[in-house]
Amino acid sequence: MPNTIIEPFKIKVVEPIRMSSISEREQYLASAFFNPFLIDADKVIIDLLTDSGTSAMSGHQWAMMMEGDESYAGAHSWQHMHQAIQDLTGFQHVLPTHQGRAAERILYAQLGGKDKVFLSNTHFDTTRANIEYTGAEAIDCLTEVGRHPEEEHPFKGNIDLEQVEKQINRAGANHIGAIILTVTNNSGGGQPVSMENARLTSELCRRRGIPFILDACRIAENSYFISKRETGYETCTYRDIAKEMFSLADGCIMSAKKDGLVNMGGFLALRDEALAKACSNMLIITEGFVTYGGLTGRDMEAIAVGLSEVFDPDYLNYRIISTTYLGNRLSEIGVPIVKPVGGHAVYVDARNFYHSIPVDEYPGQSLVCNLYKIGGVRSVEVGSVMFGKYDQNGQLIPAPMDLVRLAIPRRVYTQSHIDYVVDCFKELIESSGQAKGLKITYEPKFLRHFTAHFEQVS
Ligand code: F0G
Repeated sequence: MPNTIIEPFKIKVVEPIRMSSISEREQYLASAFFNPFLIDADKVIIDLLTDSGTSAMSGHQWAMMMEGDESYAGAHSWQHMHQAIQDLTGFQHVLPTHQGRAAERILYAQLGGKDKVFLSNTHFDTTRANIEYTGAEAIDCLTEVGRHPEEEHPFKGNIDLEQVEKQINRAGANHIGAIILTVTNNSGGGQPVSMENARLTSELCRRRGIPFILDACRIAENSYFISKRETGYETCTYRDIAKEMFSLADGCIMSAKKDGLVNMGGFLALRDEALAKACSNMLIITEGFVTYGGLTGRDMEAIAVGLSEVFDPDYLNYRIISTTYLGNRLSEIGVPIVKPVGGHAVYVDARNFYHSIPVDEYPGQSLVCNLYKIGGVRSVEVGSVMFGKYDQNGQLIPAPMDLVRLAIPRRVYTQSHIDYVVDCFKELIESSGQAKGLKITYEPKFLRHFTAHFEQVS
């Protein structure tokens, strides 16, 4: 049998891609203030902005959507979703939400507050914003190796438990709102967390009486890496690996828009009844009744099916191998990327790609804009635009890394689309000497990368 890996699906429905010229895209970019979040999607050729909510659903998911029960209370679609989540996570209490950040808002409003500190391998931007919004502090405790894009390590998403202990001793265990493991670690390069690291985190949390929460939106992809890289898991199913990781935690948040293989949806699942009750009250006030949250019946059917399909070995194998394919091809032509390649995305080290652009002129944002201009490929900066802060003098405190994320939607693009992206990078390498930096001309207080405006530095 040939050992070429192929997409393990056939295409039944297609969506047109509208082509555009470089000069058209220059205009679109200028009208969007050099922020591709502000460009209309029909002006994008290959959209690698996010892997979130962009999956192609299966025929089975679409079929089950027709069975969606749109009853306000007690819909059978809720029972399907509820059952699928309980079976997978083992958590008794499940709260449906319209997406991951709604679950974050509800949970961290309960666990957070002015005197609280949260510790994580890396807080995703909405996680950090929801925590900080309550007045609490969010501290990233990523292992040292995770901070170095070029260093190879099987589990660069691991949390540094020595740092965690130090922070607990500094703040006092009763001031720690939760320890959150983001699997895989999106903002740190899509890198996995090992089961051993999760187990040690769990033991520490139990010992110190701290809630242990999993941000599980890419837990199937994380399970794939554990199966391939961690001793003792070679023969386990991906699903059993995920179940074991859930068993170590007190609860989880999941944006089903990633490994739930759906376009909208999320949930919060908890072991503790009192906490679940408090969260349910908030759910009803802000999302909807406890048997639908912010979801329609058809959304809930699609999630129930997606949570099962995502653990299919052929799917997960294709998923990770195709992401690795893009990373390896870029690396071969000399593009500096975070290594090893993560699960859902390839992260380009923009600080290294554009040596000539100083950090306070946002090399990552510049690369995002040039990639769009050259080929209509949309990506996102994960660096000093997303995570930068200012000191008292208004000077930028840059993020530890300036990365550009090429996130791959699930089951959407074929290999020729990916080869096109590689060709765009070949052109970018040739013109890298002429790349210009950017300055911010407008920014909101929270999550500035979504709506900030930029201007090219001449
Ligand atoms: N946690 C992680 C690790 C995420 O990656 C995201 C979303 C969320 C929480 C929030 O979920 O979008 O459903 O509200 N990440 C998307 C991304 C937006 O592009 O990586 P949400």
